[in-house]
Amino acid sequence: MRLLGLGNRGGYHGPRHNQRMATSRLPPQLTTLQTQWELSHSDFPQAFVEEFKAQMRRGLRNQSPSSLAMIEAFIPKTAAFKPGTYLGLDLSGTNFRAILLSIDGRQKVERDPSIAVFRIPTELKQASGAGAATSKALFDFVASQIKVFLENEGVFGRDIRVGFTFAFPTRMTGVSSGLLMKWTKTWDVPDLVDADPVEALESSLERIGLGHLKVNVLLNDTVGTLVLGYFEDRNTLAGGILGTGTNFAAWLGKIAFNFECGNFDFGSLKPRIQTIVDQELDTESQNPGEQLLEKMVSGRYLGELMRRLMPPHFEASSLQVPDAIVSDDLSYLLADGGDFPLTGAFLDRLGIQSSNLEDRQLARSIAAIVMTRSAQISALVVAALLEYVDSTLEREHVITIDGSLFEHAPGYPKTMKALLARLLGKRAARVELKLVKDGSGIGAALSSAAVEESFT
Ligand code: BGC
Repeated sequence: MRLLGLGNRGGYHGPRHNQRMATSRLPPQLTTLQTQWELSHSDFPQAFVEEFKAQMRRGLRNQSPSSLAMIEAFIPKTAAFKPGTYLGLDLSGTNFRAILLSIDGRQKVERDPSIAVFRIPTELKQASGAGAATSKALFDFVASQIKVFLENEGVFGRDIRVGFTFAFPTRMTGVSSGLLMKWTKTWDVPDLVDADPVEALESSLERIGLGHLKVNVLLNDTVGTLVLGYFEDRNTLAGGILGTGTNFAAWLGKIAFNFECGNFDFGSLKPRIQTIVDQELDTESQNPGEQLLEKMVSGRYLGELMRRLMPPHFEASSLQVPDAIVSDDLSYLLADGGDFPLTGAFLDRLGIQSSNLEDRQLARSIAAIVMTRSAQISALVVAALLEYVDSTLEREHVITIDGSLFEHAPGYPKTMKALLARLLGKRAARVELKLVKDGSGIGAALSSAAVEESFT
């Protein structure tokens, strides 16, 4: 059954839609670029959904070819949580978060959870002048931050169960164990590949005198977001991260699956969506041929895409420098108003001085083209998973989403909703895209409480 109403009528036109984000008319020199980057080809959305669903099906049966790992999470789908205090840890893209929360006898979270955010030094995530990064150094740092946090919270020495969100592709071997398949988001700590992140964390906790903290659940950040969403609203079908990385998880029946859809390769549609700039970025990346969807959608890569699109429209030696533009820049540009002073400052920083209004509009439109495609691809993933689970959209569904793009990039949720509305018609009203903050960390603590209740 077809959920999408587009067929070959081609009623959807990218440029009109793009204006939601660009907020100004498209400079004529970008017409070709926009045509290449828009996803409005008449049958493209439906074809994407069909390909995604087919790969989901094969991934679930462990059949190849599928670029979707569809990893089963061992989280109980439950509304029952054991009362007590839990520590949620979230090792994701940019930061490490520690969250302490208590659940009372009425299954409510007592007062606002305490949250601490630590930036992880780059040399702990990837090779540096000091050589390859090691799991011991990484987790010793994490454990030392946990110690400080627990001391500050006055609970150091207490026996607390831990839910550990590890936001990288990890094949689960049990509810609290798994093996890292590969690194993504430019992280690279070689000795942890094929190893268990829980063991590495617990060894570091032991070394620092926190051996009494026991991890009772390991989960992906999308699964944490899903668990928090379900705790808040039983209509929650899926949890997504649209931030440094990209991924979704969903309940398929009673079981949660982490799709690892940042790795989606678009199957035979790849030539229709992958531009030369995408190909170049991929070839020069840490993991060529992998995480293709993530490289078009994620905060980690949007700045790079924009940097590669700026020439021939702008000239500056800084545009040769990797990561000279980051995704936050795109958000600032899109939020800019008046005669676009933030965009002027951005161009200045790149060495493009004395920019006029036309230059600024050009830069903002490039940002809009990059950001719009990201939001549209995210919407297509949501459409595909909805169609897989409930093809006629009989029921209401909540999709909980955490992450900097969805939260901060101007127009991002609106662009996603506009494409969903276009695809689903009136039925889009039954789908809510809901922002959750710190979903993956809070979800980790909640999962720990759910596991305590269900399995002990
Ligand atoms: C990882 C996923 C994660 C996503 C969002 C991706 O790079 O492979 O496991 O869920 O980023 O953080």
